Amino acid sequence: MRMNQFGEQTLAQIEEALLGGATARRGDIVIARGQGCWLWDTAGNRYLDLGSAQGVAMLGHCHPALSAALAEQAQRLISCPNFLYNDTRAHFAAALAEVLPPHLQHMFLANSGAEAMDGALKFARLVTGRPKFVAFTRGFHGRTVGALSVTHDPKYREPFNPLLEASHVPYNNIPRLDAALDDQTAAVVLEVVQGEGGVNLGKVEFLQAAQTLCRERGALLIVDEIQTGFGRTGKWFACEHADLHPDLICMAKGIGGGFPIGAVAYSEQVQAALFPGAHGSTFGGNPLACAAGLAALQVYHEEGLIERSARMGEGLRQRLAEALAGRTVVREIRGLGLMVAIELREKVGPHLKTLMEEHGVIALPAGPNVLRLLPPLVISEEEIEIGVRAIASTLPG
Ligand SMILES: Cc1ncc(COP(=O)(O)O)c(C=O)c1O
Repeated sequence: MRMNQFGEQTLAQIEEALLGGATARRGDIVIARGQGCWLWDTAGNRYLDLGSAQGVAMLGHCHPALSAALAEQAQRLISCPNFLYNDTRAHFAAALAEVLPPHLQHMFLANSGAEAMDGALKFARLVTGRPKFVAFTRGFHGRTVGALSVTHDPKYREPFNPLLEASHVPYNNIPRLDAALDDQTAAVVLEVVQGEGGVNLGKVEFLQAAQTLCRERGALLIVDEIQTGFGRTGKWFACEHADLHPDLICMAKGIGGGFPIGAVAYSEQVQAALFPGAHGSTFGGNPLACAAGLAALQVYHEEGLIERSARMGEGLRQRLAEALAGRTVVREIRGLGLMVAIELREKVGPHLKTLMEEHGVIALPAGPNVLRLLPPLVISEEEIEIGVRAIASTLPG
């Protein structure tokens, strides 16, 4: 490898020089390895990862079953043309179908959340023949051109206009949604719990009303479960909390236990509108990704991770409430399963830095003043305690 051109530069500086720009990094820590809920940097320091590497390492880092499945598949077959069937892909699809709602038994396999969302938007246009989308303020659906169109934050969206035609109505506001839906709306795009936007919980009446309005107006309902899916909220999918039956569900993050996979699951009605070539992805559904997805699903079942998320999440929120009782800086502690937020009365950025650099704990922001915790679903009570104490030491009185 030719590294001479970088002289005495650190690995952090090399990465910044080559990959810096669109993606901002925090500090100059270089992560080299992970195990369970822990990450180690190149200097040997360890960090408790309460963010699951942005919500993906649901089984913890390098779960032995996942690593073994990847190693086995890597020695057998890594690439398979999409026009041929593949044994691992068929097994993964069948295992995924088992945990999906019974009315969503067709799927498209992709590589990321945004790619899944782009697929769902295309499918909704195809089924309805309509051009427009309705999404929500503080919603986040990814950064490709399609997914960005339904993402709310104008800072991400506006420099790239014109995008797809989409309106953003206030979340949890039924009358405003009612007013926004018209006969040109292909789909409503919804997170049951808004992740990046602040861990905002959708009210059951609102979610149900969104479904009813879609049915009445001939629009489809796309639920974005990219962050909330696969046990994050204590159910396989967050839409189960509200008894929602969407037409399409977008998945990614936790589906492969950390390996990049995206997927859209959809109904018979959507399936009927598709034609060969309507959509495609060279890497989508590759054997390595499918081996990871299959192994991850087996671990979810064997280790009871869905139920564990509900139980540990409740415990985490309770411990945070005790440890942070009386702190004026804390506006609210909220969440569902192991998707937890501490909303602050001040900016969260400096606290995340202190938490990582002084206490070795990694947490995520969700908007300017929300500290978000998305720990691996395998987190133990002892690890929760370490995290809670570090947060309590970091936040002011
Ligand atoms: C709810 C939601 N949708 C979509 C995405 C985009 O996923 P990806 O980064 O894999 O493209 C994210 C990523 O954070 C997300 O949280």
